[in-house]
Amino acid sequence: MKQALEAIRARAAGELAAAETQQALEGLRVKYLGKKGEVTAILKQMGKLSPEERPAVGQVANEVRAFLEAELEKRAAELKARELERQLAAETLDVTLPGKRRVLGHEHPLSVVLNELKEIFIGMGFEIVEGPEVELDYYNFEALNIPKNHPARDTQDTFYITDNILLRTQTSGVQVRTMEKKKPPIRVISPGRVYRSDAVDATHSPLFHQIEGLVVDRGVTFADLKGTLEVFVKQLYGEDSVVRFRPHHFPFTEPSAELDVQCFHCHGEGCRLCKGEGWIEILGCGMVHPKVLENCDIDPEIYSGFAFGIGLERLVMRRYNIDDLRLFYENDVRFLKQF
Ligand code: DAH
Repeated sequence: MKQALEAIRARAAGELAAAETQQALEGLRVKYLGKKGEVTAILKQMGKLSPEERPAVGQVANEVRAFLEAELEKRAAELKARELERQLAAETLDVTLPGKRRVLGHEHPLSVVLNELKEIFIGMGFEIVEGPEVELDYYNFEALNIPKNHPARDTQDTFYITDNILLRTQTSGVQVRTMEKKKPPIRVISPGRVYRSDAVDATHSPLFHQIEGLVVDRGVTFADLKGTLEVFVKQLYGEDSVVRFRPHHFPFTEPSAELDVQCFHCHGEGCRLCKGEGWIEILGCGMVHPKVLENCDIDPEIYSGFAFGIGLERLVMRRYNIDDLRLFYENDVRFLKQF
């Protein structure tokens, strides 16, 4: 029996040294020390030995078991260390490799300028409000003093959902929606998309953006309109900007005007940018028509107000000297990342 134990010790030592995985080690543990293992089997037969032989064989058996347990543990630690080393080698970081540059998105030029414009008006105490793009004929036209069959509708043909529901042609309807909800003093701007059934070319698009402005309070005059818009233009285009108000007609304001900025490229001489005019038109404005105030239950004998509508695309085209409106909607990164 002693010999059998010694043979097991020698064989097991060899097999342990050759084991390459934790799984193989576990196999060997079961093979020798498990319930049905070889060493266990011998220990079970101890009872058959004479009382004289038993202590000596018992000692050897215990030694062999202790030896195997120790060797199993040692080999397991070796394998674990080797695995760790292999992992470390595989996962080394070469800190001298150039990094991968993350491509950041870019704010659209329309958003860049719109955000600037919002900041300017917020600075003057305006609130930002929104209105629906799918709008009732009433808000887009009727309440703004543009009844059915009024010629002003011809220049603002749009997409109709039903006879009375359409894609708004202007943000001016938000004026009415605001005055219905809120009583004076009112100081709001309302940026958003507007639609017209125009064919696409360098200066026309069926979708574009406007920013509506509305101020209503006691004693608001044309001087307030002029002062507010002049401050706006100077903040947007620089303190040395020159503006002029040119009489115009809008059904929902009286009197009405268009605001031109002196061309900052040629300073009024006339150039390609301003098409030889020396001036560039950037918005429509006027004193809110008494009828529009009445439509919103605001007494024109007590309150007065001014309104304006800015075309965002035009403002941005002038700011960056962009000559084709279509570039805004093509989402070509080579264009977008220039701003
Ligand atoms: N909604 C007008 C347009 O699309 C622009 C406009 C003009 C808005 C005068 C106004 C305004 O609020 O007072 O042509």
